[in-house]
Amino acid sequence: MKTYLVTGGAGFIGSNFILYMLRKYNDVEIVNYDALTYAGNLENLAAAENDPRYVFVNADIRDSESVAGALVAHQPDYVINFAAESHVDRSIDSPGIFADTNVMGTVNMLNSCRAAWDDGKGGFGSHRYLQVSTDEVYGSLEIPHNLCADGSPRHPDRIEYFKETTPLNPHSPYSASKASADLFVKAYHDTYGFPALISRCSNNYGPYQFPEKLIPLMIHNALQHKTLPVYGDGMNVRDWLYVEDHCRAIDLIATDGRLGEVYNVGGHNERTNIYIVKTILKKIAETTGDKTIDERLIAYVTDRKGHDRRYGMAPDKIKTELGWYPKTPFEEGIIKTIDWYLDNPEWIRHVTSGIYQQYYEKMYGQD
Ligand code: NAD
Ligand code: DAU
Repeated sequence: MKTYLVTGGAGFIGSNFILYMLRKYNDVEIVNYDALTYAGNLENLAAAENDPRYVFVNADIRDSESVAGALVAHQPDYVINFAAESHVDRSIDSPGIFADTNVMGTVNMLNSCRAAWDDGKGGFGSHRYLQVSTDEVYGSLEIPHNLCADGSPRHPDRIEYFKETTPLNPHSPYSASKASADLFVKAYHDTYGFPALISRCSNNYGPYQFPEKLIPLMIHNALQHKTLPVYGDGMNVRDWLYVEDHCRAIDLIATDGRLGEVYNVGGHNERTNIYIVKTILKKIAETTGDKTIDERLIAYVTDRKGHDRRYGMAPDKIKTELGWYPKTPFEEGIIKTIDWYLDNPEWIRHVTSGIYQQYYEKMYGQD
């Protein structure tokens, strides 16, 4: 029996990871440690609620007493730190909370785990700490001259990708906070021999993503016949990773990755934003038969400040060392994702209407 303490488990990727682990293993215990910010939604975990292998702890990663208490009470073998402020646009508007949660929260997690796992002989037993980071810490890549219609490169073997050795060059307050957290994780490993490693993934998409991020926002707006705001010229490129592929990678990295190492997760699913928006409109119109859902809903709007042009991951290290490769091509993943949102209108209605915030206020006294 292995116990995982998953921070940020009520968010998009964290909740998918918890459901994935409970489906995959019988002999697993999961402690979901989450402060339930606007992005945390326990409805994502309705399927786990009555599972005896699952526990929810409503607490903050910046609160050292609560973290220490959870480590003593649940004795996790693994800590997976997903908890973060994750939206770039919010970081441009209010950078402070990003430093606070993403940097100071991570330092607090490292300190608390280090104290709890210290065996008194300079070691930490078989415990392992995985920091979930992002490709955004590497900065931005050039768009290749020769693109296919969907925005993927016509000559993928001739262009540049992010490797684990690419120097850190973050541009947004969000990516700067994630890069800073990564450096603390590295420092704790290098200084104290703390058993940590880092995964850096590309843009995730799939069920339970809060509709402030590109794909769920565009699906939600299209269904509401609202305009679809495309930043700049719509030609920015992201390397899209279906969330279940990411969960499989996290599981592998946490158990089999080499301590002190970084693993990039993603690869060869690059698409332009405008291709994604048009694909979403087409698929929703086909499925619903609503002929008013079409490209007339697209509005090109002022670009995001400091907008990174292209992200593209080289997945070689995780493939060679751990045998992982993203199984879901974008064209398959986007259909599954759109179908999920079409099949779950109640989930969208709750997260966009604030019903779930009222629920938390009642349950946990938060606003
Ligand atoms: P999310 O915004 O959907 O969820 C974040 C979760 O963290 C929420 O449940 C929230 O309540 C919780 N949280 C926030 N502050 C907290 C605090 N102080 N204490 C405890 N819990 C807190 O995020 P996500 O998209 O699921 O991303 C998860 C992680 O993966 C983040 O670290 C993010 O940087 C990273 N990441 C995300 C993507 C992506 O495409 N979504 C890509 C690369 C990396
Ligand atoms: O690359 C990994 C990162 O992916 C994660 O670390 C972040 O947590 C996650 O939010 C995501 O960041 P992005 O900024 O790439 O994702 P977002 O969905 O906000 O935007 C994707 C692209 O779409 C980006 O080029 C901006 C553009 N966009 C976004 C929104 C919300 C628009 O054109 N219009 C929009 O309304």
